[in-house]
Amino acid sequence: NESNIPKDFPQLKNDTFLRAARGEQTQHVPVWCMRQAGRYLPEFREFRAGKDFFDTCRSPEACCELTLQPLRRFDFDASIIFSDILVVPQAMGMEVQMVPGKGPTFPDPLKDPEDLQRLKTKVDVQKELDYVFKAITLTRHKIEGKVPLIGFTGAPWTLMSYMIEGSGSKTFSKVKSWLYRYPEVSHMLLKRLTDVIVDYLLGQVAAGAQALQVFESHAGILGPVEFKAFCLPYLRDIARRVKDQLKETGQDVPMIVFAKDAHYGLEDLSQSYYDVVSLDWTIDPRLAREQTGGKVSLQGNMDPCALYAPKERISEIVKTMLEGFGTQRYIANLGHGMYPDMDPESVAAFVEAVHKHSRQMNKQQ
Ligand code: CP3
Repeated sequence: NESNIPKDFPQLKNDTFLRAARGEQTQHVPVWCMRQAGRYLPEFREFRAGKDFFDTCRSPEACCELTLQPLRRFDFDASIIFSDILVVPQAMGMEVQMVPGKGPTFPDPLKDPEDLQRLKTKVDVQKELDYVFKAITLTRHKIEGKVPLIGFTGAPWTLMSYMIEGSGSKTFSKVKSWLYRYPEVSHMLLKRLTDVIVDYLLGQVAAGAQALQVFESHAGILGPVEFKAFCLPYLRDIARRVKDQLKETGQDVPMIVFAKDAHYGLEDLSQSYYDVVSLDWTIDPRLAREQTGGKVSLQGNMDPCALYAPKERISEIVKTMLEGFGTQRYIANLGHGMYPDMDPESVAAFVEAVHKHSRQMNKQQ
């Protein structure tokens, strides 16, 4: 068993993020950014130039380098492994290409229920996604214990939506039509994705991931009824099964759920075995605290576009956000990923403001 092999990782020097995730006291609010490795960094653009996106994902050395880049510039309290959510559909036998200017594209998406036969019935996650596990292990060494390393996956509904739409979409009418026309087949597909995702997350922990984030980026295209039927049960199942398995070997790894735009689902998500609920920027911090009732830590949720503001304004926005969430059981982040035209200086201002204001607020209490 892979998980029993000691890997002699360097000792962790900054556990602020893990403490906040577990609901323990922290001196300052930890902070990281979704898509902190990305095209807004000149060194990222230079490193990625001329290389295919998924070839990059399949190179552990490249993933390690891209994960470390933002840590050389900013005082982040966590890192997230460079990879993509669509490596899971690839492992199940689907082709995905990254088309510059268009984003991820499936040349041959699932069109009707019979197409499920095109997916592998038994996915050897250890073999198919070995390159991600290698990237995580290498990065855990090279990060030298500076901050914890987060592993991640896409959630079943979000992956199903890509597998059927074939790319991003305005209406998501193709995948949503499956929910209304073929509810049983939809559940079959979601169940198969869930099984692969559970193995994938456990493999990431065995490889060295110190926390796990589940991205349900397309939750918000569903209403509350469909969310309860097609998202929530699978999100719960994933956390419960991963946590149960880890418990057997005495491990406890914080899990974060990010169901974007699922404002109606906050209370349910706070009772779904996750340690942290990550919020998009449309949600009021105080309301989120009320609805999650102290059962979980919260993460988020500055509007990424606030990074276009002048530095002094960013600092004010951060202060207001911290006053809303409070400084404990809280991980500062953006409400979604960064955009390529953002200024690295603004990220530095964001991180500094979170540390400075939260330290001050903690002193005053
Ligand atoms: O720094 C990090 O956050 C870690 C790496 C990471 C990437 N993708 C790298 C990436 C993570 C966590 C993801 C998750 C991901 N991928 C999600 C969930 C998060 C979210 O944004 O809601 C989704 C939906 C995807 C699918 C995907 N991959 C999209 C929509 C895109 C953007 C396409 C475009 O042209 O902008 C990608 C590509 C991608 N994944 C990039 C990065 C840094 C940019 C493309 C590049 O580097 O060439």
